[in-house]
Amino acid sequence: MLMDTRLIGYLNRATGHELGAIQQYLAQARLCELWGLTDFSRQFAEDSREEMGHLSDLMDALLRLGVTPQASHVPAVRLGRTLEQMLEIDRQVEYDAIRLYEEAVDYCARRRDTAHQALFDRILHEELEHLNTLDQLISRAKAA
Ligand SMILES: [Fe+2]
Ligand SMILES: [Fe+2]
Repeated sequence: MLMDTRLIGYLNRATGHELGAIQQYLAQARLCELWGLTDFSRQFAEDSREEMGHLSDLMDALLRLGVTPQASHVPAVRLGRTLEQMLEIDRQVEYDAIRLYEEAVDYCARRRDTAHQALFDRILHEELEHLNTLDQLISRAKAA
């Protein structure tokens, strides 16, 4: 069977995104801990674990294709100087992920690759929910 190099490209790009997101949210969790913001620290640590679940699923898909998971690019960590800034940066991180997963879903749909379409679509919906949660936290941080 011929390798679908574009599909592998999407899987590896997503791998890089998720690695970056794990690092981003864990760093923010530890910084919130230093600031004494225990609730937010827990929230960010939980986000980091969710992204690790996504990374695991992407790696499984690559391994099933006989490909070694290899992120070509891991986005830099951007912490923010205030809680509100942190959440705004994370909003952008999630927004970028959503665009990537939408493109990957579209591509798989055109190729009639239903298995990978379902994988990307499931992660897409979890990132949309994540964005929704961030929006709620931003409103809460602004009101506080
Ligand atoms: Fe993710
Ligand atoms: Fe996310």
